[in-house]
Amino acid sequence: MIHLNENFTKLKASYLFSDIAKQVTAFTQANPDKPVIRLGIGDVTEPLPPVCIAALHAATDEMAHRATFKGYGPEQGYAFLREAIAQNDYAARQCPIEADEIFVSDGAKCDCGNIQEIFSLDTRLAIPDPVYPVYIDTNVMAGRTGPSVDGRYQGVTYLDSTPANGYVPAIPSVATDLIYLCFPNNPTGAVATKAQLAEWVAYAKKNQAILLYDSAYEAYIRDPQIPHSIYEIPGARDVAIEFRSFSKTAGFTGTRCAYTVVPKSLQAFDAAGKAHSVHALWNRRHTTKFNGVAYPIQKAAAAIFTPEGKQQVKDMTDFYLGNAALIRAAVAKLGFSCVGGDNAPYIWVNTGRDSWEFFDMLLTKAQVVCTPGAGFGKCGEGHVRISAFNSRANVETALARIAAALK
Ligand code: MLT
Repeated sequence: MIHLNENFTKLKASYLFSDIAKQVTAFTQANPDKPVIRLGIGDVTEPLPPVCIAALHAATDEMAHRATFKGYGPEQGYAFLREAIAQNDYAARQCPIEADEIFVSDGAKCDCGNIQEIFSLDTRLAIPDPVYPVYIDTNVMAGRTGPSVDGRYQGVTYLDSTPANGYVPAIPSVATDLIYLCFPNNPTGAVATKAQLAEWVAYAKKNQAILLYDSAYEAYIRDPQIPHSIYEIPGARDVAIEFRSFSKTAGFTGTRCAYTVVPKSLQAFDAAGKAHSVHALWNRRHTTKFNGVAYPIQKAAAAIFTPEGKQQVKDMTDFYLGNAALIRAAVAKLGFSCVGGDNAPYIWVNTGRDSWEFFDMLLTKAQVVCTPGAGFGKCGEGHVRISAFNSRANVETALARIAAALK
């Protein structure tokens, strides 16, 4: 008889965004005359930057000729892309990261979800609440937690992000081994200062722990004091892995390209206390389970590092931040407090009401989709997340409808 991995039965029946999509589909089927505006899942709406389109066309033409055709590429990514990332995202910010410490992949979601495989099952986890569900769900699947009791998996140290701490969690008072951090934060849009990140680096050093730093939204940072990378903190390359994505930076949610930085100085220990290179282990996993991102997609990704590409990315992220500013202003006018939206494409609204009820009210009365905060964890209750990813016209219409629904 085939037995299943019973850890999967500890999970909620479906993934947060699948749940929401089902509810929205049911509403639109029942109300075909009421067009819905989606400010829920953070999916981009604007076309790829022109430099990416040109690079895609040129690379596709290369694939049409024997002399320039490409089959399997290096699993870790082509050197042209890894070097462009190392130069522009790291050297330019004085971060000591080499091109061969960068692993190109088809998504930060997959990498954030897969990275836990290389750590032992008794790894002590520290996970923010609210949180991007992938971090916790993949650890539940692996069997690194107990069952969920009262909305929290047993055995996990939760890092509460609340109005009281400005949605930036404090360092835990207990030792943990693997700590998930995300700044600018999904879902709250909160950012961390260099001083705050330096405390996490010191904590990780003290506990021989590893920080998993998700900076998928760094392109939205406008405050020059806010770090874009964990490697801007001295010593971080000895204790941190960083996840980045072209999805929200350059509109690649459907195109798929991301990367993970695993410094060669990062170590994890076996049961006997012997140190092993995490870079070597991730490389082993990556080459076994992944065959690289398509060549034309990597060419399109590399194009964002050209001078025109940088300007086009800035224009695109400025555009979404313009939406975010409108959302923040409208939310404030309605009397709600909120964070995010200034250095992030998400606005985290403190509604003070049941978050699924608020979601339902916005869907049925305003035909606007948001994300209920409780879907991101217990501390998300009483909040909703509004995404700035949509056209200007849709954002303006959505805000007018929300204001009318809440009158
Ligand atoms: C979100 O809405 O939280 C993101 O789009 C999810 C993701 O990037 O996978």
